[in-house]
Amino acid sequence: MTHTLLSPLDMHLHLRDEAMLKCVAPLSAQSFSAALVMPNLVPPITTIEALLDYKKRITEAIGNETFEPLMTLFFRSDYTRDFLEKAALHVKALKLYPSGITTNSEGGVATMDIEILRPVLEAMSDLGLILCVHGETNGFVMDREKEFCTIYESLASAFPHLKIVMEHITTKESVALLDKYENLYATITLHHLLITLDDVAGGMLKPHLFCKPIAKGYEDREALLHVSLHAHPKVMFGSDSAPHPIDKKECCGCAAGVFTSPIALQALVELFHKHHALANFQAFVSNNAQVIYAYKPPLKEVVLVKIPYVVPHSYGNVVPMFANETLAWSIERVI
Ligand code: DOR
Ligand code: ZN
Repeated sequence: MTHTLLSPLDMHLHLRDEAMLKCVAPLSAQSFSAALVMPNLVPPITTIEALLDYKKRITEAIGNETFEPLMTLFFRSDYTRDFLEKAALHVKALKLYPSGITTNSEGGVATMDIEILRPVLEAMSDLGLILCVHGETNGFVMDREKEFCTIYESLASAFPHLKIVMEHITTKESVALLDKYENLYATITLHHLLITLDDVAGGMLKPHLFCKPIAKGYEDREALLHVSLHAHPKVMFGSDSAPHPIDKKECCGCAAGVFTSPIALQALVELFHKHHALANFQAFVSNNAQVIYAYKPPLKEVVLVKIPYVVPHSYGNVVPMFANETLAWSIERVI
């Protein structure tokens, strides 16, 4: 049995820099047609010069593969309209992090006060730039995303023409917002479709499944599965594949992030097949994002086949999700 995907897209990806970039970028480029690249480097991408330099390093790292890195800028509340006009020639989206909320987000916004964010958000709205948001408060870890929903609601109402992507949603409350506000969209990761907090911490602690936002409960996962398997037109696949070296994961003070890019399509096709939802797979991993981002990706055909695939223990010094385990599907060929 085979299943063919056209131009799969990963609308939330961490490629890092230097040796890690060289290790992980080709893995995404092998199976995806394009990806929205996160700007949380150290220091974050806040200038056009840094953005173009980073894009060049990514392009060099992927070699001859057909793959387009869609760049993002790290949101700052002090950007000028003039700067954003220039940036809009190179990016489709800005990524907003509340300061300190996750890996390398220290330079994020200190406040979500709409009046402080207004000039930048108004300019973005006028320029058609998309706002991607890491939506968590600094409250109790299991409630952070739920608490952020009121902020999503204020943003969506205050800037009705601004497209807002709730990144890597993990709760039923975030799912419910999709049908309440026309301008709210979401990415959903592979790992949040598969695991709950039980898988992370219910038995022996699994550092390679620790991420932000932390995986939630069964009802939340059900809500994510529902909109993904039905390919709700406002959701798109975004892996949030976030590689960290093994010594930063298997240690005291484990970094947040699950590395999924090389196994994402194989695991997703298994999931969609299991739920008799293969007819919606193409929309979830490509077509919805093309509409939301008004983007036509380079053509790539990925043929998946129901032949077992043993996931390697590691790629360089990064351990992927399902390391050493066998998935039911493999990538047969990419054209
Ligand atoms: O788990 C995560 N890892 N969540 C994020 O928001 C950031 C990411 C990273 O950059 O490592
Ligand atoms: Zn991320």
